[in-house]
Amino acid sequence: MNMPQPDMAVRANRLRSKHASCVACGRLHDIEPGTSQCDCAGQENLSICCDLGPVTRAALLKSVAENERSLWRYAPLMPVDRRFGTHLGVGWTPLYDFGDYLGTRFFLKDETRNPSGSLKDRASEAVMAVAAAHDIADVIVASTGNAAASLACIGAAAGIQVTVLVPRTVPSAKLTQIVAYGASVYRVDGTYDDAYALARKVSAAKGIFNRSTGLNPFTREGKKTCAFEIAEQLGWQAPDWVIVPTGDGNILSGIWKGFLELAALDLLSAMPRLVAAQSAASDVIARTFDPEWAKTAIGPPPYTIADSITVAQPRDLTSALAALSASKGEAIAVDDDEIIAATRTLASGFGVFCEPSSAAGLAAFERLRQRGTIKPHERVVCLATGTGLKDLRAVAAPDDVPVIAPDAWQEISVGGIRHRHHGA
Ligand SMILES: Cc1ncc(COP(=O)(O)O)c(C=O)c1O
Ligand SMILES: [Zn+2]
Repeated sequence: MNMPQPDMAVRANRLRSKHASCVACGRLHDIEPGTSQCDCAGQENLSICCDLGPVTRAALLKSVAENERSLWRYAPLMPVDRRFGTHLGVGWTPLYDFGDYLGTRFFLKDETRNPSGSLKDRASEAVMAVAAAHDIADVIVASTGNAAASLACIGAAAGIQVTVLVPRTVPSAKLTQIVAYGASVYRVDGTYDDAYALARKVSAAKGIFNRSTGLNPFTREGKKTCAFEIAEQLGWQAPDWVIVPTGDGNILSGIWKGFLELAALDLLSAMPRLVAAQSAASDVIARTFDPEWAKTAIGPPPYTIADSITVAQPRDLTSALAALSASKGEAIAVDDDEIIAATRTLASGFGVFCEPSSAAGLAAFERLRQRGTIKPHERVVCLATGTGLKDLRAVAAPDDVPVIAPDAWQEISVGGIRHRHHGA
């Protein structure tokens, strides 16, 4: 269904939030669906002002008590009305309490349970609700793969046509997913950063709403709901740490925005410290935030198994750095060996099968624990951001898995002791 694209400038603003502030200079902008960046030096991103004035703690708790099992349970804090969301039940993912792990109280937030298998669905749901509220018929995105699969999924549910630009090397399962959901897909013969620039050009030239991370301020609005859930699932408390696999830094800034909004409603008495977990091959945020890291690291390796978090120019750098500073956080980059080991630990020790980029979070946790930065008994929430089924390279089954005859029962050995991380 390809409807004509109404002119965004003349359409009435149907958003609940009317303003956005520049993340660098703070200037307020009137917000329309097509509003993207401030024109101050550096062309900085915008952050939607959630006009909390009319939203009370009681209104939020009332909405939560209605117990909608999706991110729309926090409707009063969303920039657009719930009726524009899809039926897919994005969000409200489990928070597993694994009790003691490496001396800490360890929780995993299982974002692999989202409809397309990644946390990105939160952003896509929010963006598509904004699009639906304005009768927008076409949306474009540049992505390393998950955001594209996610937008394609939510677009299919919302009846909105989706065009995606991914790097040529996108994992084949993500490409399959994108095609299956009916999106138009182009593999750009270049990097994610090249795809990003191209999506921007197409969006400007053809007037198409662009969901690309950072540029579209509504992605953060979806991602902030992950923080709402963590706090609610912990009994309206923040953990000591939230560990966030990080590329563009938009999940990080979204999580921080979510905790800030709850604090503004007096729903939290303390704030968490955030960790940006990066790959050593894509560590701009870690280098910029932590001068010690910049001193010790000797040039990034050219390749990483964690392709989803591989970006040369993080698109939400300013707000990610602000979130790290304000939360007294940490930024750390881990090697592929650690990422692969963490992928195995998550699957075989915790029962959560994640893609490598996602496992960078556990690898970062293990390093910070060894270093003593994270202290015994502290409460740690690690985000498992995307399912492992979409990217099997890190943990592909070996070729020598035994083949046996249908009656060879004697050859099957059972038993043995497994290492398991117990629930509390
Ligand atoms: C599985 C997964 N984890 C983490 C991230 C990082 O998110 P951000 O780019 O907002 O830092 C991505 C981004 O594509 C992702 O796909
Ligand atoms: Zn500005």
